[in-house]
Amino acid sequence: MNIVLLGPPGAGKGTQAKRIEKALGLVQLSTGDMLRAAVAAGTEVGLKAKAVMEAGKLVSDDILIGMIAERIGEPDCKNGFILDGFPRTVAQAEALDAMLKARGYKLDHCIEMRVDDAALVARISGRYSCKNCGAVYHDQTRPTRVAGTCDSCGSKDLLRRPDDKAETVAARLKAYHEQTAPIIPYYRDHGALRSVDGMADMDAVTGELSKLLGKPIAAV
Ligand code: AP5
Repeated sequence: MNIVLLGPPGAGKGTQAKRIEKALGLVQLSTGDMLRAAVAAGTEVGLKAKAVMEAGKLVSDDILIGMIAERIGEPDCKNGFILDGFPRTVAQAEALDAMLKARGYKLDHCIEMRVDDAALVARISGRYSCKNCGAVYHDQTRPTRVAGTCDSCGSKDLLRRPDDKAETVAARLKAYHEQTAPIIPYYRDHGALRSVDGMADMDAVTGELSKLLGKPIAAV
């Protein structure tokens, strides 16, 4: 099964993708995580992406399309994947169609997570995550059980993203509305789009996704 999760920054794509990955044995392909890994490793892509990401803008289509085309060619993607953060422009959506077709893959589900802008700012500004395993937390809605320690792996290396500052969040929302929202009608026209109320609490969103995908997904 191949899934695209669409939605603005902070909609909960990463949170839900991790639950789906665990329940259905699919691979989560987060372009944000891939870019952050490239920045941390100081690769050529990372050097190009760093300033763009910190400004809350979109990294170029060429880089992202190349990155995903290469990644979905890896063996672990044969059993299915969840795209989280890609596509983000109409050019990326068209390129995705072409690369799936070339590999004989199809897109089984495209699900939009709808959340109001005001809620997104509160979610992003309270977010922190585990550097070791990637588990995502929130100061108010999902704090770690023991302060400063990851529930999943016990690491004490918890961090906040540099692009989660208030001024950068505003730029990311602007980029979403101007460049990413136009792909919603693209998928609606292709008959593939469904949506969930991303304003609901995390477990309720997981329940809705479970119904749409027709598979049980544990709220963990
Ligand atoms: P990326 O890492 O993809 O960031 P994003 O899309 O802005 O999404 P986020 O990771 O911020 O949010 P999310 O929807 O995953 O929410 P989460 O589950 O963490 O991209 C970063 C940057 O990389 C971009 O700005 C761009 O520069 C570049 N980039 C990436 N892909 C690109 C592409 N394809 N093209 C060009 N550039 C690209 O949840 C957020 C918080 O809310 C958490 O604290 C969580 O605990 C909490 N939460 C989750 N669900 C709920 C709920 N239902 N109720 C209450 N709280 C909740």
